[in-house]
Amino acid sequence: MFSNKDLGRFEQLETPFYYYDLALLQNTLAACASAAKVYNFHVHYAMKANFNQRVLEKIKATGFGADCVSGGEVNKAIELGFDKNQVVFAGVGKSDKEIKDALDHDIFCFNVESIQELGVINDLAAHKGKKAKVAIRINPNVDAHTHHNITTGLDENKFGINSWDLTDCAEMLKQCDHLEFIGIHFHIGSQITNLDVYKNLCVRVNEFATWFEDRGFMIKVLNVGGGLGIDYHHPDQQIPDFTAYFNIFHEFLQVRPNQEVHFELGRALVGQCSSLISSVLYVKNGKKKNFIILDAGMTELMRPALYQAYHKIDNISKDSVYNTDFVDKDVKYDVVGPICESTDCFGKEVELQKTHRGDLIAIRSTGAYGEVMASRYNLREAVNVVFSEGQ
Ligand code: LLP
Repeated sequence: MFSNKDLGRFEQLETPFYYYDLALLQNTLAACASAAKVYNFHVHYAMKANFNQRVLEKIKATGFGADCVSGGEVNKAIELGFDKNQVVFAGVGKSDKEIKDALDHDIFCFNVESIQELGVINDLAAHKGKKAKVAIRINPNVDAHTHHNITTGLDENKFGINSWDLTDCAEMLKQCDHLEFIGIHFHIGSQITNLDVYKNLCVRVNEFATWFEDRGFMIKVLNVGGGLGIDYHHPDQQIPDFTAYFNIFHEFLQVRPNQEVHFELGRALVGQCSSLISSVLYVKNGKKKNFIILDAGMTELMRPALYQAYHKIDNISKDSVYNTDFVDKDVKYDVVGPICESTDCFGKEVELQKTHRGDLIAIRSTGAYGEVMASRYNLREAVNVVFSEGQ
């Protein structure tokens, strides 16, 4: 929800821009931290969701660690002062340089995604006279029941080590003197809204933990990844139910004494704290279709074009239904951007009040995978960012 003060401010600013509600971010982080604390769960923020500096600073201040997927993210986390003992590094294609830099930073753990990678990390650590802490990322073949483009834990996905390779993996671990095995890691997909999926994951995690223990490996860390979804249809119901989420792991995961449970949440922490604010450039009323053409496009927010992702679209102009009790939303528009691509569309047949050139449009729930996935395609200007006042 935007206050009248926000709207007044937006009207003075050049569009398009990402607007961040830092108070909402703060409340979301606090809700997650207190729900995790009940079970002493460890949370690493998945930096890929949003690495805006102000956002990261708030997350660091909450005491969360950083889940990184590139050398750039590892370096940024360290530079911003995240505790190196809370930095984890995943990714199917870590380059030698990225591994060497992470070794220099003495990060908490490499989440290793192939047997070959184990050998490379071992060699590079040996060269530096170090021992690298590793967790094995296992592909558990659990269906996340989410969009296929953001599913990561099925046999056909490139991520992690498959169950049939675990015997070779265990052999390799035994041969690598410069690796310290600390646990197992999973991440089955993103925007998961059916929490039962996590029960299935817990069952698999328990099986794999037992498998390793039966072969003499001590497991200190059970890292179950992230993926908790947000409600894109109701952006004003803003804080995800972290308690329900953590309760599932508490109930279904077999955690031995001295074992730690780690999470890597991205979207659930930052998704609802931002909207992309844009102006209507043109309205085209046709016989079959009406179009609203915005000054923001897939260059600013790529998710609808890339994953057919739904984002709620509101007309937030001062005299719009958003601000009055007027409910006669009878015009359907395709809401599109200015980019020379037919996929540059934020929503089809979106029901809105009659809209005019110059109206302000908010595309909601853009805090995760929004600003960070923006591009300069068509030589567009880098997108602006605006923060709520007072935080
Ligand atoms: N851990 C690992 C190893 C991951 O690959 C990811 C996300 C996460 C944690 C955090 O997942 P989250 O809690 O944010 O769901 N660009 C896509 C999402 C890609 C997710 C990639 N991995 C989107 O816009 O929907």
